[in-house]
Amino acid sequence: AVERTLSIIKPDAVAKNVIGDIYRRFENAGLRIIGARMVHLSREQAESFYAVHAERPFFDALVSFMISGPVMVQCLEGEDAIAKNRDLMGATNPKEAEAGTIRGDFAESIDANAVHGSDAPDTAATEIDFFFGQDGLCPR
Ligand code: CMP
Repeated sequence: AVERTLSIIKPDAVAKNVIGDIYRRFENAGLRIIGARMVHLSREQAESFYAVHAERPFFDALVSFMISGPVMVQCLEGEDAIAKNRDLMGATNPKEAEAGTIRGDFAESIDANAVHGSDAPDTAATEIDFFFGQDGLCPR
């Protein structure tokens, strides 16, 4: 089915100047970018976005990293977009990510792991709404 998913290029990958390389991978996989914005998140925004992880031991490190520089946020649309994006990203821990995946090629550590992608349709809907609201997308 045609799905939408929320993708974030994290501060480490923005700093490496590889936004275009990552966009090329999305487009080559048949995903369309139907919304995009660059934002330097506040601590409050990052804590709110990652609220499901609030009780995890890595929460503070995750939030601190996500506010360390600007991120590039995009909504991707396409057939099986959620799984396709997760395949492109590779394993959460870059040490386990295969070469040829975004994390395998660009990520350094489990926090500085280059990209985020929604993991399921319900979280995708919540995450897309968080950044783009009801009228922030340009589907076509
Ligand atoms: P992300 O997909 O953005 O979702 C939560 C993030 O927490 C994850 O990518 C990692 O960057 C980070 N993280 C740090 N430690 C862990 C861990 N042990 N398990 C899962 N995610 C972790």
